[in-house]
Amino acid sequence: MRVAIASDHAGYRLKELLKPTLAELGVEFDDLGTYDESSVDYPDYGEKVARAVAAGEYDRGVLICGTGLGMCITANKVPGIRAVTAHDVFSAQMSRRHNDANILTMGERVVGPGVAAEVLKAWIQAEFEGGRHLRRVEKIKALDRAPAGAADGAQAAACARAAADAPER
Ligand code: RB5
Repeated sequence: MRVAIASDHAGYRLKELLKPTLAELGVEFDDLGTYDESSVDYPDYGEKVARAVAAGEYDRGVLICGTGLGMCITANKVPGIRAVTAHDVFSAQMSRRHNDANILTMGERVVGPGVAAEVLKAWIQAEFEGGRHLRRVEKIKALDRAPAGAADGAQAAACARAAADAPER
């Protein structure tokens, strides 16, 4: 698995602390910045990672800022990205199993390094379950493809492509 990781200045220290965790997991990763604690703008780094993941250069992305929130908002503006902010193991796992999240964001000002490492491990290791969740993720993807005002048609097309219904949960 190839992962792109980045942060702004407020997430720099946590990013540095999480890189050994990626290495322990055997994940191949590139650090796309920032490279010190000088003030920068989180959208620049969120966009860089999101575009690289959406282009298929990386399988997944990890973005760290002060709260995780600005990075998440930014990344989700890029078509093809399903970014989540998770500061607990359960949410991190579920974001993979049900939502096929391809970017994880966390906040250095929110979570300690030990918990953040456990959240990252859980998120990297959890797999998408497919099935009924695939149908729902296809509906999210249809929103990426829908021109303004054409969302209904895109949703209908996504439904038509969906796999057979599974028991609802
Ligand atoms: C930087 O002060 C802070 O706003 C940023 O790191 C992030 O938390 C934004 O969502």
